[in-house]
Amino acid sequence: MFRAPHEDPLAAKDTSHSPASHVAIIMDGNGRWAKGRGKPRLYGHKMGARRVREVVEACPDHGVRYLTLYAFSTENWKRAPSEVAGLMALFRQFIRSETAELVAQGVRVRFIGDRGPLNPKLRRMMAGLEEATACNGALNLTVALNYGARDELSRAALRLAQDVAAGRVSADAVGADSLRPYLDTADLPDPDLVIRTSGESRVSNFLLWQSAYSEFEFTPVYWPDFGRAELGRILARFGSRERRFGAVLS
Ligand code: IPE
Ligand code: IPE
Ligand code: MG
Repeated sequence: MFRAPHEDPLAAKDTSHSPASHVAIIMDGNGRWAKGRGKPRLYGHKMGARRVREVVEACPDHGVRYLTLYAFSTENWKRAPSEVAGLMALFRQFIRSETAELVAQGVRVRFIGDRGPLNPKLRRMMAGLEEATACNGALNLTVALNYGARDELSRAALRLAQDVAAGRVSADAVGADSLRPYLDTADLPDPDLVIRTSGESRVSNFLLWQSAYSEFEFTPVYWPDFGRAELGRILARFGSRERRFGAVLS
């Protein structure tokens, strides 16, 4: 039977919603990826670091304006000292090798997390990269390094409490959004989509406050195998999700 395009039930049902403006990724599975190849864990981290460039490059093509990557958690210090040292060396190497490209691509880089326990040289390099890219805006890349949401929330709560104690904020005015300006992510919108690679279905202390209304995607792909194609598939699925934020939509 002939049916005009506007009567096509599939065409009529517009399933595409706004693109994910802020995507946050828990980059997991480097160790298992390496183990499966009979290689040391650090080799997996090295191959994982290479994937960052591809994902950064792909984001603007999909309308993603903010990309946040979980690189090292406040709990990751529990790993063997050699793995921790290897990861820290990799972060320094990443900054050295990627700065020029990130500047050229118009990427603005920020770091979130507690910098206090990090090596001073790494801290200087992080500040240098933030400064070198501060005027960029094609993509906002945020790297969570020594980040833990509970740590972030307790640091934020302490600063809010100090402001209340000093009379700068009234205790009566403290509400659901009061912590926002004290969070490491104060300058960033909340993530629309949180992706975790490697098949684990947990958030491991990542953006607990900010992800209150995020969509979640858990993919079995290990981070060193994650690239443009898998990102595209996940973003397409996100586009057909209906976000309700507690309301009833007709
Ligand atoms: C993610 O990969 C990288 C970091 C946590 C730094 P893992 O190192 O956690 O890899 P798996 O989970 O052991 O495979
Ligand atoms: C989460 O991965 C942290 C990062 C990806 C940086 P983990 O591998 O540390 O998380 P758990 O231990 O499996 O929860
Ligand atoms: Mg892991």
